[in-house]
Amino acid sequence: MVLYVPGEGGRAFATRLAQQAAGEVADVEFKTFPDGEQYARIRSALAGKDVVVVETGFPPSRLWSLLLLLDAARENKAASVRAVVPYMPYARQDRRFLDGEPVTARLVAELLSPLTSSVLTVDLHKDDVKSHFRVPCMNLSASPAFGREFKSRGVEVVLAPDAGAEGRAREVATQIGARHDHLEKKRLSGTEVVMTPKSLDVRGRTVAILDDIISTGGTMAKATEQLVAQGARRVICAGVHGLFIGDAVAKLQKAGANEILCTDTIESEFSHVSVADLVARALQAPAAVRKAR
Ligand code: R5P
Repeated sequence: MVLYVPGEGGRAFATRLAQQAAGEVADVEFKTFPDGEQYARIRSALAGKDVVVVETGFPPSRLWSLLLLLDAARENKAASVRAVVPYMPYARQDRRFLDGEPVTARLVAELLSPLTSSVLTVDLHKDDVKSHFRVPCMNLSASPAFGREFKSRGVEVVLAPDAGAEGRAREVATQIGARHDHLEKKRLSGTEVVMTPKSLDVRGRTVAILDDIISTGGTMAKATEQLVAQGARRVICAGVHGLFIGDAVAKLQKAGANEILCTDTIESEFSHVSVADLVARALQAPAAVRKAR
């Protein structure tokens, strides 16, 4: 039986995995020392167990609990140690955009690789990030799950907020027989984006905007404004990973979003699409089990 070891942000997801795949959820203690250093202790017995550490990467400080738990499992003689990181932190800096920058996606992969026999994640910002890991990294797609949700809501158009997100929109639209399109976005800073106006055939239609991340909500809000101005009947703002920084939710509502839909890779009140079954199936796949040993 697998022992799921949850990080501070991974308990709900680990519990869902244990329910899907008949495992146990470990008892874990966390505290913070007066100087800010983190302490973690897995109280459940680890020796000889097949351990899956489950921790999401938001807020980014969770990366540290993930490292502590992986090391604790290894140190206490788990038979195998795997990592489930539903949202991979620092993955957006996947190359050196400007001189003097680090490549944080590679750095995180290098930190995790010595501590685990495999890494399982969902909708990496770019699939290429997998190549930085020195152990097998499986990047699962939440697109089929969104397809099911969109179909049940009668979505007629799936819109990508920028060209980079078009593949995901196309995939989901094809799955449900909807149309797809994309907008042109330019990022000015971490919190500011501009979108080139584009004429879209959305009057009277139910439209879902689909992106990998909703962070400050700026991207989704700008896209929603265009759809509302062009007469869309209903606008669903969908993101795989919902970070909802600051007033993101208010921004989306003010822009005219009728619904906000995210997965449970980061738990929030908008986590209506669960990818736990997808991850549980991947963990049980014979190849994943063999690699764990
Ligand atoms: C960027 O490349 C991502 O795919 C998202 O579009 C971005 O993270 C969304 O950020 P925000 O919600 O702050 O506009």
